Amino acid sequence: MGEQVRRAVYPGSFDPPTMGHLDIIQRAARLFDELIVAVAVNSQKQSLFSLDERVQMLRECCGHLPNVRIASLEGLLARFAQQVGACAIVRGLRAVSDFEYEFQMATMNRQLAPEIDTCFLMTHQQYAFLSSSIVKEVARLGGAIETLVPPNVAHKLRERFAPQTAGTPHPSGEST
Ligand code: PNS
Repeated sequence: MGEQVRRAVYPGSFDPPTMGHLDIIQRAARLFDELIVAVAVNSQKQSLFSLDERVQMLRECCGHLPNVRIASLEGLLARFAQQVGACAIVRGLRAVSDFEYEFQMATMNRQLAPEIDTCFLMTHQQYAFLSSSIVKEVARLGGAIETLVPPNVAHKLRERFAPQTAGTPHPSGEST
């Protein structure tokens, strides 16, 4: 009997992917045989980038990682993880403030799929303050984002927040 492939799922909104996400992806890719980065369709969150754009940005960022693939996640994460034959769900933990939400999700996912463990990787301290929301705000206000996100994502953000012509609705929801 052949050795079983140890496959993990790293889920998230990735709106947009940051250097913090990439750090977790690279480290999880070393721990597991295969890593599936699952980009969630989140009906409760208004996203800046479409699902296709987020998937595309991640494909570009992860092209150098042969055991990483990017998929979209519709519906329950626990069910998706079971369907792809994963043994683990990976999440990054930045600070104590992340803990309560992560604890709640991990507990629920364990109830839904008891055979799948959630593994938390501590975010590198360099990225402990980083979040997609804060990156979007800095980009929207014209601040430097080059050290916060991969180059292709910085390009997309600059494009998205480029000054609009008068009368065109701004993607942030503000009129210009
Ligand atoms: O990057 P985020 O927004 O913190 O990721 C949250 C995500 C996508 C992991 C979470 O919302 C999720 O798992 N969504 C899929 C639907 C689901 O399974 N919900 C129940 C979670 S216990």
